[in-house]
Amino acid sequence: MHWKIKATLQKILSFSNLGDVLNHIPSTLNSNYHKNVFKYQFFECVRKFDQISLNLKAKPRTALEIGTGYSIIAPIILFLLGFDKILTIDITNDISFRTFKKQFKEITTNEYISFLEVNSIHDQKTLNEKINFVLASHTLKDVLDYCKIEYKPNYLIEDIAKKHSSFDYIYSQVVFEHIPPNKLKLIFTKMKEWLTDDGYAVHTINFIDHFANPGVFQDKNISEFNFLRFNNKKWNFWSGNNIAYTNRLSYLYYLELCEENNLKVVDFTGENYRKHSPLDLSLIHEEILLEYKKRPKKEDLQKFQRGTILLKKNLS
Ligand SMILES: C[S@@+](CC[C@H](N)C(=O)[O-])C[C@H]1O[C@@H](n2cnc3c(N)ncnc32)[C@H](O)[C@@H]1O
Repeated sequence: MHWKIKATLQKILSFSNLGDVLNHIPSTLNSNYHKNVFKYQFFECVRKFDQISLNLKAKPRTALEIGTGYSIIAPIILFLLGFDKILTIDITNDISFRTFKKQFKEITTNEYISFLEVNSIHDQKTLNEKINFVLASHTLKDVLDYCKIEYKPNYLIEDIAKKHSSFDYIYSQVVFEHIPPNKLKLIFTKMKEWLTDDGYAVHTINFIDHFANPGVFQDKNISEFNFLRFNNKKWNFWSGNNIAYTNRLSYLYYLELCEENNLKVVDFTGENYRKHSPLDLSLIHEEILLEYKKRPKKEDLQKFQRGTILLKKNLS
């Protein structure tokens, strides 16, 4: 389907309060949806945590998740791994307890439990007690209270700053590409301020045009970097709404933000996880280059489809 049809539908939906929810429905129609969400959230959460060497036994540890989305699986996995407190924030309020129940029951599968046992600070008995409590809970509040998770939908960064001053672990999963540059700048400044001296931040960012994403509405005829063809005004016309917005920034922009904020990039891993079909460089709009402090090479803007950046406070 032509991407402009999806863009038009999303634009119409964005005028309704239920737009975000309605937009999410097609992806939930797959019979394996909940199973797949659990698997994805579980392994992405453990994969990111695996990249850091934070001693959870040394002292009580606090984590911040930016961009909860539709699932609180990741914060619960962090609780099971051994974090003492987890704050998860989003600009929307999309969590449903019914959906959570359908997803969390997957944890009883052996592969997950044994994986947790290897990585968690808790012994098998404690881990099973915790999992059983969550499985038997009747309300979202019970689960959040028990797992010491604070869920803050519709958050304002100023409110977070009033209540919290430090985090040992700050992470996000495919969220930063939905945040406009001016807000990203603020988040990176706060990240520098909030990270403890031995803390880590790990962010996975998807750099591609989401209208090329798989699904019923996928446009199979466009490059995964199609959005780089447009000036800001035109792109804003198609995607400047709370459902479709993506910032079109490449990994280079995030590396610049780290440099500006004196954050140490411990690692950056760029990936191409699907067929790579970059645009002809002559099609990339000049305005795209203006977002960057150092003028990037056009080919670098299409180098990676997704990437994970691992950061620490620069103490030197
Ligand atoms: C693609 S979803 C990813 C959700 C979740 N992390 C996951 O992996 O399923 C992107 C999420 O980022 C949230 N988001 C967008 N802008 C944000 C911001 N400035 N701060 C926090 N979350 C934001 C959206 O509301 C949405 O829930």
